[in-house]
Amino acid sequence: MTHEQSRKYCKGSLRTIFRENVEKAVDKDLEEIWSEVYGLHDIETSDSDESVSLDEGETWERTSVTVSKKRHFEERKSLGGHTTLLKSSKVVLTSGPSSKPKSRMTGFGTPGFPVLSRILNPLVEGPPYFYFENVASMPKKEWENITRHFDGVEPEFVDSKYFCACRRPRGYVHNLPVEGRKLILPEPPMTVQELLPRTTEYWPSWDPRTKLHCINTRSACNSICSGLRNLLLASDGADPPLDVQKHILKKCSSWNLIWTGPGQLAPLEPHEIELLLGFDEDHTRGASNKTDRIQSLGNSFQINTVAYHLSVLKPLYPTGMRVLSLFSGIGGAEVALHKLGIHLHYVVSVEINQNNKIMVESWWKKSGQRGKLKQLDNITDLTSDVLQDLMEEIGEFDLVIGGSPCNNLSGNNRVSRVGLAGPDSSLFFEFTRVLEDVRKVMHRRKR
Ligand SMILES: C[S@@+](CC[C@H](N)C(=O)[O-])C[C@H]1O[C@@H](n2cnc3c(N)ncnc32)[C@H](O)[C@@H]1O
Repeated sequence: MTHEQSRKYCKGSLRTIFRENVEKAVDKDLEEIWSEVYGLHDIETSDSDESVSLDEGETWERTSVTVSKKRHFEERKSLGGHTTLLKSSKVVLTSGPSSKPKSRMTGFGTPGFPVLSRILNPLVEGPPYFYFENVASMPKKEWENITRHFDGVEPEFVDSKYFCACRRPRGYVHNLPVEGRKLILPEPPMTVQELLPRTTEYWPSWDPRTKLHCINTRSACNSICSGLRNLLLASDGADPPLDVQKHILKKCSSWNLIWTGPGQLAPLEPHEIELLLGFDEDHTRGASNKTDRIQSLGNSFQINTVAYHLSVLKPLYPTGMRVLSLFSGIGGAEVALHKLGIHLHYVVSVEINQNNKIMVESWWKKSGQRGKLKQLDNITDLTSDVLQDLMEEIGEFDLVIGGSPCNNLSGNNRVSRVGLAGPDSSLFFEFTRVLEDVRKVMHRRKR
């Protein structure tokens, strides 16, 4: 048996021991990581914070070294640099920026920010690669719980405002390499004015927004827009008084309203949201009504962000990938991989919503996929036996990807934000259960 074979052979049983140790160790240091590195207290309010970007002309020097934990934190203090401590690995990495970053939602690096590196514990290395997404603003203890279920792999927190014209603060837990990431081209519009140039002439000077807020699952109702229109009418073409401006801007921010005429505000249309999120126009058209389209889009991946993370897979799979897409929604994962030019050899897509399934199926045909798409409904029906049979037909999965429902986790939910134990959000545990089953089948096949 070669060294590589024996390492893989031992992976399964070692993982159990490793997981037990992680569970003991992870609690202590996560607190430090969250407050010092990611500043999660900021993330909770990030939807109302518009202020972060690098100053023009600001540059970063890149260095990347592995250091001991103590030295690492000392260096971080003196350099003002980014660091991250990985429970799933021996640790650390750094970069030495020439000045202190103003935002902490840049994960292992976004375009224009320092690139960090990490050393994953071999026990959590792919294949299979995994990639899990959920809202950054969920309570910290829930992210800690998620981390434990991923054998100590911590989330990378990223705001999509670095990739497009809207915010989308998300946590991504994955075992992908983090070096060599690439953007999909063409790069998308980075401001709302570039995205919707026809609206620019109506944008008053007192509305400073260039980025929209996180795309939600609901639109503003007519009464909100007509109420604002009446306020604007009362000023008779002049700039409204400051307190009225402030009130209007607050509503604009909460509901992502855009200027569609002189003194006229309106919510985004589904085709505009599609473009903001990096889908092709009309991706969701045809399968459902406007309300459902907006809801499905509000739950989906931001394509440019996710594609940036997944881009490292392209050189690893030059002939294509076998993908298990869980909670596929409108197919954000599939679209991101396709836009990267990765051939989708086989996709098993698990999604319970029939309209979403139709959208994925119709995109599959429209985009001229030559691989095979198999669609399943309820993830709870994807038992280990079903998976075993599937993998007999398909072979191994290269990637398990998805974002589980966030209904009971999101800061927007004021009624049933009961955490991972909630009826929808507890589906998260299905993701790690299925991932573990995939690993077991792959492990058995290697013997
Ligand atoms: C956060 S969304 C994921 C969106 C997806 N990442 C995308 O890009 O569109 C969660 C999805 O899980 C689906 N879902 C909810 N319960 C499910 C279940 N029991 N089995 C499979 N899918 C489910 C929902 O319909 C929803 O589309």
